[in-house]
Amino acid sequence: MTIATVRTAVTDAPILDVLAERWSTRIFDPSAPIDEAALASALEAARWSPSANNTQPWRFIVARRGSKAFAAIYEALRDFNKSWAGDAGVLLVAVAQTATDDGSTMHFGQYDTGQAVAHFTVQAHAGGLSTHQMGGFDRAAVKAAFDLPDNFAPLTVIAVGALGDIDAATEDVRSREDAPRTRRSAADSVLVND
Ligand SMILES: Cc1cc2nc3c(=O)[nH]c(=O)nc-3n(C[C@H](O)[C@H](O)[C@H](O)COP(=O)(O)O)c2cc1C
Repeated sequence: MTIATVRTAVTDAPILDVLAERWSTRIFDPSAPIDEAALASALEAARWSPSANNTQPWRFIVARRGSKAFAAIYEALRDFNKSWAGDAGVLLVAVAQTATDDGSTMHFGQYDTGQAVAHFTVQAHAGGLSTHQMGGFDRAAVKAAFDLPDNFAPLTVIAVGALGDIDAATEDVRSREDAPRTRRSAADSVLVND
């Protein structure tokens, strides 16, 4: 079994190891149960994320492989994501509250949920779990399967679990896993640097 564990970012300035070393694998171990302690810590890290007025608009659907919830989320994935994400120990849906129960728009609902997911992924990586966020899924199907009210929007499905065997992956997945990790320069993201 060959596990590719190192895809460390080449950075122009030093960053925390856990940030440089996190990457989105598509190769999970289909026989490994989720590390419950590491998952609990990742959810705890999300809990302590900042949010506008401390509104904490994030919600999570946590579905372990083999459960009915996992099957419903897997069914909603787009075909390419289906080709690899079913091996993850958990499929987690990140859901944002977008309006209060009395109908006022929560302008930072999606922003804050994204921040909470960022906390989740970094803590997960530090705890030995890999994560891979996916926008490629049928939102209406997930809303219906979990009876989500109109003011709760599923944003991403996140595959979470132990790294798997790169030799067992499809050619398509393997070549993406081997591709260099790239980013534009930090300076190119700065509009003004006075
Ligand atoms: C909101 C969001 C949606 C994404 N959707 C998909 C997806 O549907 N399928 C997929 O294979 N990767 C998806 N990705 C993974 C990105 O392609 C990946 O994060 C990006 O290429 C950077 O790679 P890295 O996370 O390994 O640094 C998504 C990532 C994010 C944050």
